[in-house]
Amino acid sequence: MVSSERYILAIESSCDESAVAVASLSPEGCFALCAHQISSQIDTHKLYGGVVPEIASREHLKNLPLVLDQVMTTSGIERTQIDLIAVTRGPGLKGCLLIGIGIAQGIGAALGKPVYGINHMEGHVLAPMMEHPELEFPFLELVVSGGHTELLVVKGVGDYQVLARTIDDAAGEAFDKSAHLLGFEYPGGAALARLADQSSNSTFTLPRVMRENREFSFSGLKTAISQLIRQQGVRADQDAAVRAQLSVAIQDAILDALLFKLKLALRETGLTRVALTGGVAANRALRERVASLKGVELFCPSPVFCTDNAAMIAFAAAARLKSGLLSGTALEVLSRWPVEEVCQ
Ligand code: KG4
Ligand code: ZN
Repeated sequence: MVSSERYILAIESSCDESAVAVASLSPEGCFALCAHQISSQIDTHKLYGGVVPEIASREHLKNLPLVLDQVMTTSGIERTQIDLIAVTRGPGLKGCLLIGIGIAQGIGAALGKPVYGINHMEGHVLAPMMEHPELEFPFLELVVSGGHTELLVVKGVGDYQVLARTIDDAAGEAFDKSAHLLGFEYPGGAALARLADQSSNSTFTLPRVMRENREFSFSGLKTAISQLIRQQGVRADQDAAVRAQLSVAIQDAILDALLFKLKLALRETGLTRVALTGGVAANRALRERVASLKGVELFCPSPVFCTDNAAMIAFAAAARLKSGLLSGTALEVLSRWPVEEVCQ
């Protein structure tokens, strides 16, 4: 056990959010977030209807130093007090990860402090524990974001059993692509969900998404929506009532797929603690439906820590440090890095 507070500087740049956090870990193992900031690039990528990797890298190069300065100032911590640097090493967009790693290495070299590569998914996986220290291992978790959909048993730090993941689109991607078909501006998922929440039951029905398979699959949903729109001759982009009704049906179909496999996993594992994380975990209906499952105790991060952020990277580094698992400073980018392959 260390005798004084340790300060962690964390950097996240795996996709289209430039994020920095400073956190402390007390000798007793208590984690505290000193300051954090997220600079989103959505307004830039909106123009292209999706994330453009090359532009995202250049935005990180521009934004990260500014965010870093602001976070350091807000934290009240001097750079020389930083004990270690944690940076997202993967999975993610190669060019984007390289910018974050390069900046982390520069700071590490200047301060003479170690830089550790953290798995972005492990950040998401452990994020619910940051605000809920009472959440104990093992628990079931749904990681649902724009890039990932995974159902896993979280057995301990670095000990993750993936029960199912998506074979094509992620849940957030399904929300966004469906939203695009209804004429919403990119990314559209949250706007579609908001409209669905305000609307009554839908007269439209969509096929239930791949219930019987072990893995998740959402790509058929786009086809089903396009067919429905064509067959019924409806114009979702022009008719507000149709758009609202379709939003309800789409949200229902996506949540049904998530709930179906979650319920199966609850039965099979006998676990009762459930965590939701990733951008789609901000979805109000999803939280409500999971919370209403009999005997389930639900844990979710605040919405700001559901989406990509650097606080979760600092927290994952702290959890590894406490467990004696923060070792190795290999930093080559891993654009593909399944969470179950994170070493123990
Ligand atoms: O975790 P995240 O910020 O980025 C990735 O790592 O992918 O998740 C972003 C995704 C987007 O697809 C967005 O549309 C979706 O999360 N999202 C939502 C909601 N809020 C964000 N989807 C459904 N309902 C929401 N309330
Ligand atoms: Zn993410």
